[in-house]
Amino acid sequence: MGKKKLLRFAEMRDFDNVVQAGADQVYGERHPLCGKWAETFFRRSRPLVLELGCGKGEYTIELAKMMPGKNFLGVDIKGARIWKGARYALDNNLKNAGFLRTRIELISSFFERDEVDEIWLTFPDPQVKKAQKRLTAPQFLYRYRGFLKPGGLVHLKTDSTVLYQYTLSLLEGNRLEITDHTDDLYGTGTGDPVLNIRTYYEKQFLKQGKPICYIKFRIDGNGLINAPDDQ
Ligand SMILES: C[S@@+](CC[C@H](N)C(=O)[O-])C[C@H]1O[C@@H](n2cnc3c(N)ncnc32)[C@H](O)[C@@H]1O
Repeated sequence: MGKKKLLRFAEMRDFDNVVQAGADQVYGERHPLCGKWAETFFRRSRPLVLELGCGKGEYTIELAKMMPGKNFLGVDIKGARIWKGARYALDNNLKNAGFLRTRIELISSFFERDEVDEIWLTFPDPQVKKAQKRLTAPQFLYRYRGFLKPGGLVHLKTDSTVLYQYTLSLLEGNRLEITDHTDDLYGTGTGDPVLNIRTYYEKQFLKQGKPICYIKFRIDGNGLINAPDDQ
């Protein structure tokens, strides 16, 4: 590992807006912050919004600036990426933006029932060959359901038509509510500033001329969620 990366990792251990937890600390257990993000981490009771696979945290940061009345938490496994968003939030006194470094597979250990109001999935790996690893696969949606409030929204932004079509088929096949979707977000025009936030990866995809797909949906209910037949 490069010297700069090592220095950043060391520095991040002292950031009070970052929590780091590996499988050895939480596997099958409740993390000490589970159910306590508002009172212990953000120190204020406000709606909690997650960005899963946040990378450098552009959505977490920009949403936190736009909506000071909510708490935002970016989640990613890569410390060097999280460092950027966390450093920016500290330097800009953005107290409603925080970061959690862990694997999304372990996410259930961190939040209790109804603790989360909304989830953003921003350009996750489409996992073209391993559908069960997609962040909208049934095993992930069950996890989100375990802590997302009834009526809570999930947003997916992706450049991948494979992930877009898979997610639409899954939602339709399981009669889950789709409140909005498009396979060309900027082509069809959006006046919503929230959808105009561009992440690091999104900017690369736009430079390559790729259209951006977007789905907004709910996962209410407690029934089985089946994967599409044609994945
Ligand atoms: C394609 S990047 C997108 C990053 C950012 N959202 C953006 O749009 O620029 C996918 C991100 O998901 C993270 N990631 C992938 N699998 C993960 C997992 N199982 N748990 C946590 N983070 C994961 C990667 O580290 C990476 O930062």
